[in-house]
Amino acid sequence: MGSLSEIYSKLPDSMDDLPPPPNAEAVELADFRARHWRSPVTGPLKPGSDAHKRAMADMFRDTFNPYRPSVIAWPKLDPATLHKVVSLPIWDIAVQTEGKARLRMAAYAALIDDPDVKDAISRNAWEENRHKEVLAKMVAAYNIPMAPEPPYIEPKDVEWAYLVTGFSECVDSFFAFGMFELAKRSGFFPQELTDTFEPIMQEECRHILLFANWLAWYRATMPWWRRPYFEAKVLAVWGFLIYERLSLVRTVDDKGQVHTQDNNFTVTGTKEVANIDITLPDFMDLCLQEDDRRFAGYDSRLLRPKAAPFIARVLRGAGRCWEFASGMVKANRR
Ligand SMILES: [Fe+2]
Ligand SMILES: [Fe+2]
Repeated sequence: MGSLSEIYSKLPDSMDDLPPPPNAEAVELADFRARHWRSPVTGPLKPGSDAHKRAMADMFRDTFNPYRPSVIAWPKLDPATLHKVVSLPIWDIAVQTEGKARLRMAAYAALIDDPDVKDAISRNAWEENRHKEVLAKMVAAYNIPMAPEPPYIEPKDVEWAYLVTGFSECVDSFFAFGMFELAKRSGFFPQELTDTFEPIMQEECRHILLFANWLAWYRATMPWWRRPYFEAKVLAVWGFLIYERLSLVRTVDDKGQVHTQDNNFTVTGTKEVANIDITLPDFMDLCLQEDDRRFAGYDSRLLRPKAAPFIARVLRGAGRCWEFASGMVKANRR
């Protein structure tokens, strides 16, 4: 695929060409603005209305952070930490997911006529590319062995590909919020690394906020006769995501080394990023709290993604019932 400027001419192709911040206050202000936004319009923001669509696009543009995430002088890691970082089974999938997201969002944005929505989704593609650049530079700095990246091929069904990326981001980001907080609390990684990835986490929160509102806008403005086909497609996307998450991805690199990638790492990898023992219900609680915290600064009239928090509540409830039942059994045995 071509250069990013073909997709989005308002920002330079590479994050390296963005203007540097004038001072530390500008960095702090940009960070605050990226996390807080409210529409000056009064009254409800009904999906399908012009006011809702403008609010969604303005939110995405106004909360863009030109300074973060950025590439840092990667800290020197002690051998044990370096080993832990290098052996996390996420790097291939992380780099490829960002690459795929960039491509799919750009391809979808190219089909959109509405200038506000086109601007937002194109910028989202640009931001995915910045995530990929940060990851690629970290992978190079720590010499993390990578499987070769597959070619990024333009999807045939662009809408399907955009839906797959959007819904997976909603699920993955939700659990990544909890996982990231756990890693931060455990002090497992040096602070420079968590500080570098923090703005990426918040950008993912903005991305899924945009996706949830785009979806509502799209549904509300689509002709009624397209709706049944679209809803069937959404269901098929969920089916595909469940299937994908039930499998591990195995690829072989040019040295014959097998790379196993865990699509569910954001849920199953808590032990690998934190030396804290946490039960499943407690982890779900943490994800729900972090989700609330990250969304709290944005206009409450904009819709939030609901599926992942719903899954988390179900898992938390089931986990608590299990804990209660096994506690009773143990007590009766004594
Ligand atoms: Fe991303
Ligand atoms: Fe994203």
